[in-house]
Amino acid sequence: MEQEKRGQWTSNFGFLMAAIGSAVGLGNIWGFPYKMGANGGFIFLIIYLAMVSFVGIATMLGELTLGRKYGMGVIGTYRKISEKYTWIGWLGWFSGFLILSFYSVLGGFTLRYFIGFLLELFSSGAGFGGADSGAFFGGFILNAPMSILFHALFMATTVYIVMGGISGGIEKFSAIAMPTLFVMLVIVVIRSITLEGSFVGLEFMFKPDFESLKEIGLMRVLKTAAGQMFFSLSLGMGCMITYGSYLSKKENLEWNATLIPIADTAIATLSALAVLPAVGAFIYQGVEGVSFGAGPGLLFVTLHRVFSVGMGGAMGNFFGAFFYFLVFIAAVTSSISLLEVCTAYLIDRRVEKGLEPNRKKITLIMGTVIFFLGFPVAMDGLGAGKAGGALIDIPATIFGMQEVRVAFDCWLDFYDMIAEGVFMPLGAMLMSIIIGWKLKTTIIKDEVEESPGIKMKAYNFWDICFKYIVPVAMFFVLLGQLDDFFGLGIF
Ligand code: PHE
Repeated sequence: MEQEKRGQWTSNFGFLMAAIGSAVGLGNIWGFPYKMGANGGFIFLIIYLAMVSFVGIATMLGELTLGRKYGMGVIGTYRKISEKYTWIGWLGWFSGFLILSFYSVLGGFTLRYFIGFLLELFSSGAGFGGADSGAFFGGFILNAPMSILFHALFMATTVYIVMGGISGGIEKFSAIAMPTLFVMLVIVVIRSITLEGSFVGLEFMFKPDFESLKEIGLMRVLKTAAGQMFFSLSLGMGCMITYGSYLSKKENLEWNATLIPIADTAIATLSALAVLPAVGAFIYQGVEGVSFGAGPGLLFVTLHRVFSVGMGGAMGNFFGAFFYFLVFIAAVTSSISLLEVCTAYLIDRRVEKGLEPNRKKITLIMGTVIFFLGFPVAMDGLGAGKAGGALIDIPATIFGMQEVRVAFDCWLDFYDMIAEGVFMPLGAMLMSIIIGWKLKTTIIKDEVEESPGIKMKAYNFWDICFKYIVPVAMFFVLLGQLDDFFGLGIF
């Protein structure tokens, strides 16, 4: 009865599309290509694959299983395990708020770029005002009302879908969006690798680059791969616990937990194939201002240039609109999972008390709170601060912490530091310790085998993962993130 009120996926396919949709997002299309590029190319890919195999899949299995076993969102799940663990659930819940607030601002950017290229298609200059990619982006991020407007549109889309419920909203949208996204991505990959000079990008991606590995250091590459892995798989903050709680007892958890990371990794690799060969091609063709080294600027500055100057004309505008629409969809299927983490807790509480879930109202309230939480992110010009012409200052100035600049350089990094830097790795570490040492891994086996006719295949492997590999890896991620954010210089 309670489960009926909370909602359920109607099919395993629908669940998979929603879960893969959560995993595939800006982290794949934006983060993965530039991190791969900056961390030794092919070697990064191999290390990343190892991380997914030994840490990612087990953590995914742990989250999905706890969710299905206890049938609750992240806070309810930890509370049911033991009252004294409730706070771990709160870490995840709060991470959802923080991540979604900046994710939505960035999602709004992708919408702005999609509309921009679409308008350019009809009339030159209508979309980006004839500005150069760097100048346009610089102006856009300082224009707070504009950023807030697109943040509002992105959040409204997210709220609308989550209001529709598990099967009628999230599943329905993901079941259409994810296959569409996949087809679109393949089209962009084909366009990208058939450009003249794309081999420059392919080489950059696939040539094992031991020199830069030496320069960067193995520890740092390991840490970057691990951090990227767990953000990209939506782990550590209860997203997969929440999605698992809507899964029927019929479905095979072990299989699903393996498939989601495989799909996510395949799409991350495809995204890199969509982006890096195109960048390489225009480096080869000598287009000014295009390089692999753009870091986070890759998505909005370099790629804008790739489409507007590199490809140019109607073709460039068409592929520009096509590509940013794809990124927008990928971001929406992730943002709905973040909002669901936040709403599920309040819905669970009402259902526990025997009340109507009131999903629509709760979703609207949560969405509004998160929308406001995103304001500072949209207002500080991504770190420009008042001195750089933005409306508000960066946290370092406001909190008087200029000496620890790195994490406080802009509101986005500040939120990200709390969530991705501390709460998420801590959450994943504690979860695996609780499963491996406190509840014992048999709890996972028992729940997997609740499904009729299903036997767990790799129990011993998961046991080692939960007890040793995941906690140690997460400890290093935690250390590495803190090192990064505060510039401690450990790695
Ligand atoms: N996995 C998403 C991405 O790659 C981000 C995300 C993180 C979504 C955590 C939900 C929870 O962009």
